[in-house]
Amino acid sequence: MADFKNKVIYQIYPKSFCDTNHDGIGDINGIISKLDYLQELGVDMIWMCPIFASPQRDSGYDIKDYYHIDPIFGTMKDLEHLIAEAKKKNIDLMFDMVFNHTSTEHEWFQKALKGNEKYKNYYFFKKGKDGKLPTNWDSKFGGKAWKYVPEFNEYYLHLYDEKQADLNWKNEEVRNELIKIINYWLDKGIRGFRFDVINNIDKREFTDSSDGIGKQYYCDQPKVHDYLHELNTKSFGLVEGTVTVGEMSATSVENCIGYTRPDNKELDMVFSFHHLKVDYLNKDKWTSMPFDFQELKDLLNTWQVKMQGGNGWNALFWNCHDQPRSVSRFGNDKKYRKESAKMLATTIHMMRGTPYIYQGEEIGMTNHYFTDIQQYKDVESINAYRILKEKGLDEKDIHQILQEKSRDNSRTPMQWDSSLNGGFSDVKPWLQSNQNYKDINVENDLKDSDSIFRYYQKLIQLRKTYKIISDGSYVPFLENHEVIFAYKRYYQDEELIVLNNYYDENTTVNIPHVQEYKVLISNYKEHNLKDTLTLRPYETIVLYK
Ligand code: NOJ
Repeated sequence: MADFKNKVIYQIYPKSFCDTNHDGIGDINGIISKLDYLQELGVDMIWMCPIFASPQRDSGYDIKDYYHIDPIFGTMKDLEHLIAEAKKKNIDLMFDMVFNHTSTEHEWFQKALKGNEKYKNYYFFKKGKDGKLPTNWDSKFGGKAWKYVPEFNEYYLHLYDEKQADLNWKNEEVRNELIKIINYWLDKGIRGFRFDVINNIDKREFTDSSDGIGKQYYCDQPKVHDYLHELNTKSFGLVEGTVTVGEMSATSVENCIGYTRPDNKELDMVFSFHHLKVDYLNKDKWTSMPFDFQELKDLLNTWQVKMQGGNGWNALFWNCHDQPRSVSRFGNDKKYRKESAKMLATTIHMMRGTPYIYQGEEIGMTNHYFTDIQQYKDVESINAYRILKEKGLDEKDIHQILQEKSRDNSRTPMQWDSSLNGGFSDVKPWLQSNQNYKDINVENDLKDSDSIFRYYQKLIQLRKTYKIISDGSYVPFLENHEVIFAYKRYYQDEELIVLNNYYDENTTVNIPHVQEYKVLISNYKEHNLKDTLTLRPYETIVLYK
């Protein structure tokens, strides 16, 4: 079992990180060129979104060959160089294993399409029922989850895009192929694995669901635990020091305890997304609604407390390549950008779990606010645009929704400096840079001792210095406060109080004997520690004794 409790992981979206070969797309050599920067930040591991050979229909989450690097990112030699250079800086790499589905261009699927029974059995090919689809399940990217293949008069299952065919994990041959892939990358020196939508791998039963969505037949089914245990004991569990994280879609805390309890030997930690749905109107992502602060608090507290109770472990995050930028979503990306970015970071980094930082978060990058559908590249956003249009929504309203929810908000190029395209590339980037790069960029943040970057650096150092942050217990605090999100941590005789004001007005809170504490970190300089504390707009303060 790896010691991951005091580690911090940095997520790179390779396409948008740094372009060194002048094609407008980030590459492996670009990552190598920024290792000093990541070392200075203090992170232990880099999770890279998929760099395997792919038609890039879903930005690499449609893999056609798990053993080869997509030429847009570089070569195997470049990757080996990256692994070696990162190791020198005590940074490990985490790969993104997309095992729920492959691209339909994968050799296995291509053979299946030619009628090869062995490979047809790698996927789910089913006959329609009474002139209808095999089941009424939805695809997560819009429309239904079955695609017709006239040659067989059958349909194949795709829970995501129609070019992403779901793998049949019931088939032992499939599981062995996947184990072989992990072992191949372990041999290459990869020490972390993120498993994409891994709780969807067991399709228990092909039955219509009353809601027409279908989740109860493929999400968090009991066999997922068996399959993960098998992967663990035949691949990554055999190598000391590996770190694993499962991306869990629409999951439950009970299952996540099961996935991460060390004695179950499944995974180290999970990403769950309930706290990132608090701005969905009627559970629909493609709507516009201010976030529900009480619900956010309840969800984060519940997951902290219950995972702790069951000896599970959370991955802590606000941002990733699938989410809009947190400072635009839960903070204030204009007047209080710096304050709110630091406050949000504190909320997550002081919790029990392993924090993930998504590229650009550490300098407070914001949503892009695109105004034209042509500017979007993400397949999910483009599908959503079409579906909202069909529903008859106003163009203006659709744009507002996309500006708030589109995944492309987080995929814009990393902002390194104030030069053309934020220093990401000297040619037109694959996705337009956010035009605020002249102000918001790494170069500026490195020069400023009070920057968001310097604040993240300090948060990481604190986790490595204070056992109470990595190992302490978690207790919710001020649960009903209308604007403050607070909690306490305990370790031996130490105590930590974390206070975060989520709004742009002063608020007060009573902390008896507050003079006995010291301020460990805060986004405001001066503090007057009186039993009745005033928290200023977006103020965060961490008290320790
Ligand atoms: C989750 C990934 O994070 C997302 O980017 C992708 O589109 C889906 N899984 C499908 O692989």
